[in-house]
Amino acid sequence: MPEPGGSGPSSRPAFAPMITDAPGLNWAGPGDAWSRAWGAHPQQAPVLPAGNGFTTLAGPRPAALPPMPDRPPAPVPPPLLNPAAAVAVLPLAARTAASGPTAEDIALVRHSLGVLEPVADRATAHFYAVLFLRNPELRALFPASMDVQRDRLFRALLAAGQAAGSPAELTAYLDRLARGHRKYGVLDEHYGPVGEALLAALERYCGRFWDQSTEIAWRRVYRAISEVMIGSAAADARENPAWWQAEVVAVDHRPGDVAVVALRTDRPYRYRAGQYTTLEVPMWPRVWRPYSLASAARPDGLLTLQVKAVPAGWVSNALVQRTQPGDVLRLGPPGGTMVVDHDDDTPLLLLGGGTGIAPMLAVIEEVAEHGRARTVEVFYGARRASDLYARERLAELARLHPWLAVRSVVAEGAPVDGGPTGPLPAVVGRRGPWEEYAAYVSGPPAMVRRTAAVLLDAGVPRERIHHDLEGV
Ligand SMILES: Cc1cc2nc3c(=O)[nH]c(=O)nc-3n(C[C@H](O)[C@H](O)[C@H](O)COP(=O)(O)OP(=O)(O)OC[C@H]3O[C@@H](n4cnc5c(N)ncnc54)[C@H](O)[C@@H]3O)c2cc1C
Ligand code: HEM
Repeated sequence: MPEPGGSGPSSRPAFAPMITDAPGLNWAGPGDAWSRAWGAHPQQAPVLPAGNGFTTLAGPRPAALPPMPDRPPAPVPPPLLNPAAAVAVLPLAARTAASGPTAEDIALVRHSLGVLEPVADRATAHFYAVLFLRNPELRALFPASMDVQRDRLFRALLAAGQAAGSPAELTAYLDRLARGHRKYGVLDEHYGPVGEALLAALERYCGRFWDQSTEIAWRRVYRAISEVMIGSAAADARENPAWWQAEVVAVDHRPGDVAVVALRTDRPYRYRAGQYTTLEVPMWPRVWRPYSLASAARPDGLLTLQVKAVPAGWVSNALVQRTQPGDVLRLGPPGGTMVVDHDDDTPLLLLGGGTGIAPMLAVIEEVAEHGRARTVEVFYGARRASDLYARERLAELARLHPWLAVRSVVAEGAPVDGGPTGPLPAVVGRRGPWEEYAAYVSGPPAMVRRTAAVLLDAGVPRERIHHDLEGV
């Protein structure tokens, strides 16, 4: 591994951002968060575009990151987030909309959601059309291609309306969502236009079921959602940056189109083993993807990811095929539920398919660091033996830690290291008993889904089956 902070080949052209006028962008250069945090380019004043609080730049990227300071950098000052702004920008149809949602409002919202369900796709398209026609500047916050994922925001708005009756659950969800939204460049004044576009789509597609009471109900619910999100973003801004810049310090290519990418962030990145980060590559601005953190938090602050290039995948191919030491990526806050409680001695069953082994490696390291031996059984699955890129690292960990048992599972060909063969979920189902275990599952969505079902059948309680696949 090269020296942390080592720069890429000198023959590479100077870094130039593809787009410099979008509020969500955050490239390295004079006056940006990186420079301010580390005192680089002190002679140059920050370039702050009017109004949006985000830095765009058109300057050279720093050649290398300076060493980590003894003290963490000063906390980021809170941005101008004002819960009242969301309310002020969203003109209320009636004064009564200013109060919180009532039980009747929630019933009205749920009824309109039922009406909307069969035409949700068209309503989504209408929502974005209205949003961008009325507020063209907001288009810059979204990725170039929105065909695959464009329904996420609209569907979540609808889901939040649906969940408005369970405040604690909804607040926890919105809190996470709002913290994650800071990296998109979302500001308090954006909530009003988004709310108006939502109401326009609802009005159009609820047809004869749309009346003044339903509109007021939606306005109350949306206002409550916005207030929670604006408040959560403001609280987060007192502790964390909206995103972290991460310089690539090494890219280690492995068989099966996998790369192990080592990153060094501009500010301390606090996470737990088993969690993932979200990541944006310079090649595809505003396209964010989650990647598991493949090592436990390290004293030198380096992060590692294990990425497989999937056919025609935007971000994974950019990472595996094009990323080099010296490149600067952006990371969102850590997320995910696959964290281990070290005060508990429940044996662990770690099931990783393909790069799904990455969070399991981090968990093993964290258990080892914690110093309290507990049984840990790992099943590491891949199609072929040649795809088991993490086999050596797992073998090394198993040699070091007598509490750790590792089995390689291949779907095709001869057994590897005397391990079982077949699809990983089926192999796990044949073994056991697992009732006493806490299970952690990561890998391709179909594998996670099947494995979770197998574990439930094997008697593992649902609350002890941990994964980060939505909707399972
Ligand atoms: C919580 C979480 C953690 C993750 N951790 C990791 C990780 O540690 N390492 C890692 O490599 N990936 C991980 N992923 C997957 C990752 O987020 C991306 O989905 C993946 O890299 C593909 O993104 P892309 O932009 O390259 O492809 P996209 O541009 O999103 O997809 C392009 C095409 O490829 C298809 N496609 C997407 N994924 C796959 C796949 N796995 N196999 C075959 N075709 C596919 C899509 O359907 C689409 O047709 C994780 C996902 C989640 C939800
Ligand atoms: C008011 C409540 C809102 C809800 C419930 C909501 C929900 C969501 C959800 C679930 C996603 C999917 C990705 C993720 O989880 O981060 C998302 C993405 C996004 N949201 Fe929001 N959002 C809200 C408000 C806003 C506002 C006000 C803006 C500002 C324009 C905004 C801009 C975005 C952008 C840019 C993305 C990324 C889209 C993509 O990657 O395709 N959101 N939102």
